[in-house]
Parts: sequence; structure tokens; C-alpha cells
Amino acid sequence: TPEKTIAGLKSLIEAVQDFPIKGVLFRDIMPIFRVPLAVSSMIDMIAAYIEVHYADVDAIVGLDARGFLFGPMIALSLEKPFLPIRKKGKLPGKCISIESSKEYGSDILEMQCSGISEGYNVIIVDDLLATGGTMISSCALVRKSGGNVLACLVLVELLDLKGREKLDCPVCSFITFE
Ligand code: PRP
Ligand code: ADE
Repeated sequence: TPEKTIAGLKSLIEAVQDFPIKGVLFRDIMPIFRVPLAVSSMIDMIAAYIEVHYADVDAIVGLDARGFLFGPMIALSLEKPFLPIRKKGKLPGKCISIESSKEYGSDILEMQCSGISEGYNVIIVDDLLATGGTMISSCALVRKSGGNVLACLVLVELLDLKGREKLDCPVCSFITFE
């Protein structure tokens, strides 16, 4: 059941105080990837959720770097294209960029212009929603390229940081921490 999958995944996430800077309680999702069965049940659960709620999705967009641990596997399971959003200077060809701020820093994010067609329905996938800064900028980037954001989907949501309130599209999360 999804409840059992979620409880199992939550128990694998480790909390690290003062990482990467003082005052941040870092939620480390990497231990999930040491357990293949946890990974397969997680991807099955997320793909099933998308199939039920967003059957009209055209592509999965994933965010550098931890979104790349989820996005391609979800896209493969749905047999849809995967499109990366990367930190500046990593993607060749014509790109569009946007500034972005997050809980412990800021970035410039880029997306290849060749990836998205006008009117494409995308779901943006990442590991975790904190302040929502990364996700709001990613939504703007997709929209600037002519895409339509059906939803932002994360495994983990940090509720206290209220990232969800910044976003003007549906937000799906499976595991929450205060
Ligand atoms: C992390 C995380 C999200 C973002 C969330 O990325 O993977 O993308 O922060 O924070 P926010 O909601 O406050 O914007 P980060 O760039 O730190 O690391 P990564 O390169 O390991 O994915
Ligand atoms: N990205 C932004 N804030 C984070 C946190 N507290 N834990 C893990 N990843 C994060």
C-alpha cells in the first residue's frame, strides 16, 4: 500500500543538523538509494499517482542534481520524455536561464530551448521542497519556454518553510516533515 511505502521511505531519510550551513536541518534522502526495493516501490508509487491524476502529461522535467535521481526513472516508467533543468553552464546549445534562491544559497538555472514544445504539459520533479525558491523559478523557466506546468512533485516537503504557498500550481508531496 502507498501508506506502507511512505512509512518505509520516511524511516530511511536521515536528519543532519547544521548542513550545509549552520542553522539548517538537512534531510538526507540518499539512504533510500541503498535499498533497491525501496527505490522500486517509490518510483511505482509516484508513477501510479501521475497516471491517475495527470494522464495528460507530455514530459517530466527534473531539477539538478537530486531531481535527476527521480525524474528519469519516473519518465521511463511512464514512457515519457525527460527534460533536465541544470545549474548554469552545464547544458550546451541555446538555453534560457533564470535566477533562483533556496534555503541555503542561490543559483542560476537553465533549460535547453530544444526540449519543450509550445503547449507541452509537464510535471516538474525534485527530491524536496524547502522554501520553494527552486521550484518557483523552475515553473517560470518552463512557462517562458512555452510549457504548461500541470504540477510540481516532490518526495519530501518541509512544511515549516511554507514553499507550497509560493507556488501557483498544484504541489504533490509524499513525505512531510515539520
Ligand atoms: C536542494 C533540493 C532542491 C532545493 C530545495 O537543491 O534538491 O532542489 O534545494 O530548496 P528550496 O525549496 O529552498 O529552493 P541543491 O541545489 O541544494 O542541491 P543538489 O544539487 O544536491 O540537488
Ligand atoms: N534543500 C533545501 N533545504 C534542504 C534541507 N533542509 N534538506 C535537504 N535538502 C534541502
